[in-house]
Amino acid sequence: MTDTGDSEPLQADPGREDDRGRSGNERRASTVTYSEATKRYPGSDTDAVHELDLKIPAGEICVLVGPSGCGKTTAMRMVNRTVEITSGDIEIDGASVLDRDPAELRREIGYVIQQIGLFPHRTVAENIATVPGLLGWEKDRTYARVRELLRLTGLGEDLGDRYPGQLSGGQQQRVGVARALAVDPPLMLMDEPFGAIDPINRTRLQNEFLRLQATIGKTVLFVTHDIDEAIKMGDRIAVLREGGRLAQYSTPLELLAKPADDFVRDFVGSDRPLKRLSLIPMAGISLWQAPVVRAGETADSYRSRLESADLPYPLLVDGEDRVLGWLEPDALDGAPVPSVPASPADPVIEIDSTLRDGLSQLLESGVQFAPVIESDGRLAGVLSIEIISEFLSTGDGSPLQDTVSP
Ligand SMILES: Nc1ncnc2c1ncn2[C@@H]1O[C@H](COP(=O)(O)OP(=O)(O)OP(=O)(O)O)[C@@H](O)[C@H]1O
Ligand SMILES: [Mg+2]
Repeated sequence: MTDTGDSEPLQADPGREDDRGRSGNERRASTVTYSEATKRYPGSDTDAVHELDLKIPAGEICVLVGPSGCGKTTAMRMVNRTVEITSGDIEIDGASVLDRDPAELRREIGYVIQQIGLFPHRTVAENIATVPGLLGWEKDRTYARVRELLRLTGLGEDLGDRYPGQLSGGQQQRVGVARALAVDPPLMLMDEPFGAIDPINRTRLQNEFLRLQATIGKTVLFVTHDIDEAIKMGDRIAVLREGGRLAQYSTPLELLAKPADDFVRDFVGSDRPLKRLSLIPMAGISLWQAPVVRAGETADSYRSRLESADLPYPLLVDGEDRVLGWLEPDALDGAPVPSVPASPADPVIEIDSTLRDGLSQLLESGVQFAPVIESDGRLAGVLSIEIISEFLSTGDGSPLQDTVSP
């Protein structure tokens, strides 16, 4: 994502943006640069984070992932100086965090943690309004912003008057996200934000956050120990090993296609090929062309289509290119195309599925190929086991230019 050009150093008054009359969800994002950033806790003889070099482009989600105790939380908290840097530096939009007043810095950076940390005796609306309150925003403006965030995070305005104890865990987490977004920070720190939520709600919250991020385009530093969450959420992934050392920094695809060493390979897991498939949308690969036929057509008109197609089975479609089912090639000899298929198309794969979903549907139905349809039901092409195995064997989808050097 691109820098909007609005990401000047943050030294100035944090209320400054407001004078420009921005609305809450205008895109504004910072670049974060770690330069040999090191943390050694007092009394320890090893570094918790060791000479970390990392550049996070504006508007991207960077996930810090690694085993427990490897220094993820420490690395994240050095950014807002809730953990002081021992040596090295971290810059936000080119300005060192060491030159900033820590309290001011924290107000300007959204922070979401697993324990949520909502104030139990304040309403949801009052919780969300915490930082606007600290910054002395006018009542009307705060109220409008709170309502906007209740909508944006899918909570609904009605929930504003409740207390945190009257919400589910997932709803509380949404309030945590809303509160972090209150003053439209150009940078968000999220430490295992969905870690304590059950799997179904966790998936929902992840999807919601990705949708929200598509609108707000923040720079997000996201910590998790779950590699699947990292692959799903990250534009880039930094894998840390014991002692806060960077093992690899790359896009999810690159990480899966070319793990830097055995540690990363083990950490990513033995199902790397399947994980790669989960990153590729059906729309992102070239599907086979089906020999399409329509009821009433004659042999002459469809024969050349059959010859040039990738598979020998005619696919019967209606007048609007919607899939009706498969025909036997022999059945067409001489006769006009019937209006009823020999066998129904089952499964039919939707274009917004991932390759992994598509493969799963093929395997479940025990077939080698199946039609893929657009959202309006029209035929997009045909997915086959062969396409998928070719994709995996060519290492497609992991172009070298995706490599990110720290
Ligand atoms: N306040 C502290 N004082 C001393 N040592 C600490 C402190 N906080 C963390 N550590 C140590 O620093 C190392 C990194 O801890 P950190 O919390 O950053 O790891 P993490 O990757 O976030 O782990 P987890 O996945 O369990 O949350 C650990 O060895 C931890 O014991
Ligand atoms: Mg942690």
